[in-house]
Amino acid sequence: MIIAMAADHGGFELKNDVKKYLETLKDSDGNGYKIVDLGTNAPESVDYPIYGKACARAVADGKAELGLVFCGSGIGISIAANRIRGVRCALVNSVELATLAKKHNNANMLAMGGRFTSPELARQMVDAWLKEKYEGGRHNRRIALLDD
Ligand code: RB5
Repeated sequence: MIIAMAADHGGFELKNDVKKYLETLKDSDGNGYKIVDLGTNAPESVDYPIYGKACARAVADGKAELGLVFCGSGIGISIAANRIRGVRCALVNSVELATLAKKHNNANMLAMGGRFTSPELARQMVDAWLKEKYEGGRHNRRIALLDD
């Protein structure tokens, strides 16, 4: 499975930590995750909309199945990602929310705040999101309405 990742200067350290973690995991087919890292990879100030939209476009265009984005709070980069049609990016700060993001929203992207999220929590949230199954049913109608 291909996962695209992007961050601004407030999130790149957490991005890189999560990237290293993902590289140690296997997907449900027993294959490793292939990471497409869209930057940034340095502490110099950059604009989160550029990075959030680049990651969201990779997901919307099918170049990656899932996306992970990070900024200082997670707020700006999640807003940016959700401007791209077909993207459902959930800003998460607990394992329960990461689980619900998959079960109810079939979120194809997660956003996290690098200044508010420990690496351990980030790993747990990614695990929950990857392992959880989308429930479908009544949620299909609601997800279709998002792109209506
Ligand atoms: C950058 O300082 C900060 O504004 C950004 O990372 C993010 O938190 C915006 O929502």
